[in-house]
Amino acid sequence: MRILVIGSGGREHALLKGLSGNELIVAPGNAGMSTLAKQLPIDATSPQAIVTLARDEQAELVVIGPEAPLVTGAADALREAGIPVFGPTKAAAQLEGSKAFAKDVMAAAGVRTARALRVAPEEGAEGVEKTLEQFGPNYVVKDDGLAGGKGVVVTTDRAEAAAHAQAVLEAGNPVLFESFLEGPEVSLFCLVDGETVVPLLPAQDHKRAYDNDEGPNTGGMGAYTPLPWLPEDGVQRIVDEVAAPVAREMVNRGTPYQGLLYVGAAWGPEGPAVVEFNARFGDPETQAVLSMLETPLAEPLYAVATGALADLPPLQWKDGYAATVVLAAEHYPASPAKGDAITGAELDNPDKVLHAGTARGEDGYVSAGGRVLNVLGHGATLEDAIADAYRVIEGIEMRGSFYRKDIGRRAVAGEVSVEKH
Ligand code: GLY
Repeated sequence: MRILVIGSGGREHALLKGLSGNELIVAPGNAGMSTLAKQLPIDATSPQAIVTLARDEQAELVVIGPEAPLVTGAADALREAGIPVFGPTKAAAQLEGSKAFAKDVMAAAGVRTARALRVAPEEGAEGVEKTLEQFGPNYVVKDDGLAGGKGVVVTTDRAEAAAHAQAVLEAGNPVLFESFLEGPEVSLFCLVDGETVVPLLPAQDHKRAYDNDEGPNTGGMGAYTPLPWLPEDGVQRIVDEVAAPVAREMVNRGTPYQGLLYVGAAWGPEGPAVVEFNARFGDPETQAVLSMLETPLAEPLYAVATGALADLPPLQWKDGYAATVVLAAEHYPASPAKGDAITGAELDNPDKVLHAGTARGEDGYVSAGGRVLNVLGHGATLEDAIADAYRVIEGIEMRGSFYRKDIGRRAVAGEVSVEKH
């Protein structure tokens, strides 16, 4: 099958690796992907440009990696052109594009989530202060526009919460204040086709930049899968209590969801409560999760794109665990340095290293983004998988780069647990 993947990060590198065996095209891609796919430029913000490229390349399936093209209607344009696409319509992608919309859907579907209040840009500093009164001691402040998983500040410092809210309002977006959800977080990626929901393995991301969950929020610094601490029925409960009711509600609204629904949930005393939805695969959890999938990835993605997910045989998974550790550039996330040379023995081995933000320099790879590489590890135990990833990352050199040294450490030490009710 000829498959066009839209995007350029580590998630898209993982998608290409999972789709290998097919004729692959990636747009725009990054330097590390050239052995897996033909690379072409694209204006990914233009649905029409994506349709034109898909037609020119005779793509039989288009897989859209990031949220921005989905929210601008790329999947709608492809469907109208009769090209199978993995990714929800513009209306359905509002589950990620507007946090307020997601809250409305959850209220209608009876899904547990945080209490939220929204402040519009015209309400200004006064609106922020009045709303902050109603929250704390943990403040959760979200950009109610698209922020690629990076627009959230969680803090006990009221002044920091107010400053983030002000910055979001000044950028012209509404800001959402939420109550803090207790409990460890789960990222569960669900294939959704109308009312049919098929979960992938559950994963946990590490969103803060530095060890011990310190420093600013990032797009994600590392992840592991599956979750040894999750109750045995944990995945099924997230499907039954969150993904399936939301999928049904989207069908009832006449905007069925077809693509990947990323459920970000906190597992509190009552079970799962939704922190956020995304309309796409998560990054970097996908890099670990898809490395465990034995079923060829094209089968479930094509089934979703053609409305045949209900007929898909059960997905097959490898035994054991996978972990991924992100190598970040100096000064990530505030102002990542670019153009630094990267060296290491495994840079061209996609079983071990996926490229997130790299370009070709004169003598090899150079950094071209905040998150530069995603290093993968596998093992029979979570401890082995994590050790494997750190063994590989220690062999990579890049000036100013850093990575978290504690990915999955609390889970290995048995320090992550869920409250039973
Ligand atoms: N890993 C967080 C995200 O993809 O938004």
